[in-house]
Amino acid sequence: MRRPGYSGQQKILHWLSVIVILWALISGFYVSLFDVPLAIKEWVAFVNVSLTTLYLPFFALRVYLSFGYHRSVGVHNRSLAESLALFVHRLIYLVIGVVLVTGILMMDRAISVFDLFFIPQPLDNPDFIALSVTVHVWACLLLALLIALHVTAVIKHEVSGRSVLERMSFRVSADWKKND
Ligand code: HEM
Ligand code: HEM
Repeated sequence: MRRPGYSGQQKILHWLSVIVILWALISGFYVSLFDVPLAIKEWVAFVNVSLTTLYLPFFALRVYLSFGYHRSVGVHNRSLAESLALFVHRLIYLVIGVVLVTGILMMDRAISVFDLFFIPQPLDNPDFIALSVTVHVWACLLLALLIALHVTAVIKHEVSGRSVLERMSFRVSADWKKND
């Protein structure tokens, strides 16, 4: 089956997401699970809140482009494996959305974006803030699992000689690529 390649914009947004999300997940879990000096905890919190808030519009653009892309591909001739991959990709987008929204809602102070501008604290109710913290942490765990699954699937494809990595690579400029 012939599937259109991802656009340059989609590729840039994918790899930008990889950098921001992997950094936020690894550094966030690291400072919460290990005994690190308070100054480092505060620095990670400052950088991560700023970075992930800035990432929000890029994520919105990414989801918008993805839906447009899959609508243009259509549902015809989609194999079971492709449907499963699409389901996991949609789930990843959904969980990232939950992580971003609960991250904003759990703030017990104004959101500082590198001290350049501030967004007011959205919630006052401590119960709702505590609920957002719980959902944020569980959604982060689920996201880490889904990313592990996604990367495993990519490696499995590479090993079996059906490269999908090329589709997200900047080396491939062809709009249409034969996959199967
Ligand atoms: C894709 C985006 C995000 C990822 C992957 C992410 C990841 C994480 C992780 C792994 C933790 C540690 C959880 C734990 O305590 O075990 C955390 C904590 C936290 N996150 Fe997020 N987060 C994201 C977005 C946001 C956003 C948008 C905000 C707020 C604007 C935010 C605010 C916080 C805060 C306040 C904490 C508590 C610890 C701290 O102050 O660093 N997060 N996040
Ligand atoms: C934070 C980590 C990651 C996230 C959140 C993520 C998310 C996604 C999503 C949602 C898609 C579907 C794109 C769409 O159709 O709109 C995708 C595609 C893809 N990703 Fe990732 N990804 C991550 C890390 C990686 C890594 C580390 C690799 C390489 C080992 C990778 C390789 C690919 C490839 C090759 C595709 C295209 C698959 C295909 O169309 O068949 N991703 N990724």
